[in-house]
Amino acid sequence: MRQVFDERNRDLIVNVGGKLTHRDRAAVSPFDSAVQGGDAVWEGLRLYGGKIFRLDEHLARLRASARALAFRHVPSDQEITEEIRRTLAANGMRDGVHIRLTLTRGVKVTSGMDPRLNQAGPTLIVLAEWKDPVYDAAGITLVTASVRRPAPDCLDPKIHHNNLLPSILAKIEANVAGADDAVVLDHRGFIAETNATHIFMVSGGTLAVRRRPHHRRRPARPADQAADRHVRRSHRHDGHASRLSRG
Ligand SMILES: Cc1ncc(COP(=O)(O)O)c(C=O)c1O
Repeated sequence: MRQVFDERNRDLIVNVGGKLTHRDRAAVSPFDSAVQGGDAVWEGLRLYGGKIFRLDEHLARLRASARALAFRHVPSDQEITEEIRRTLAANGMRDGVHIRLTLTRGVKVTSGMDPRLNQAGPTLIVLAEWKDPVYDAAGITLVTASVRRPAPDCLDPKIHHNNLLPSILAKIEANVAGADDAVVLDHRGFIAETNATHIFMVSGGTLAVRRRPHHRRRPARPADQAADRHVRRSHRHDGHASRLSRG
């Protein structure tokens, strides 16, 4: 198993709904939609040298996912960024950090799946941990999972939601086979991704990538380009590719 408990994370301060609390005392309500139905969206962010890699793009995808699920009262990018900043400051974090950013539909007045039962929310959870790159830069072993990514008219894979059971089932198959991870095919049998990362392919000197996600494309700003250069340099240092940092 590549990921183990990291002592540096023993006394983490986590942020649930704006409340900063020690990890052992942090609480999500049993009435929260994430508990009731995995009714939440999320992003995995990396912090390098005090900067979050592609924060704008991650927040745009979080918002697109939340919109696709008809969440109401989604906090602004500025509000989310401020909660991330508070969490990083509370932990004295600048580098080598992974942030699991979760936005749930919020707290329900009674258990049930109807979104109209959500009369408070959404709930924003910022979990920032010290975490080294997860994969071995020398390569990983993969098996092909029997579970498939659902078709867009079953559950649109562009929605980055918390219903992770297909990925977890694929990971169980990888574990049983003694592989690091699993390749997951789509419903037609084409490669979709692994249980936890995208797959890029080098073919005849060309890097083939999947199509861009559905959120609006905007031209890179000089600040982004500088951040990208910085991240590429950091990766040359530790020998890991950003796409292999697990979200
Ligand atoms: C199944 C899957 N694919 C891909 C990714 C990588 O996502 P990102 O687009 O943030 O690199 C993740 C993690 O977030 C994932 O769980």
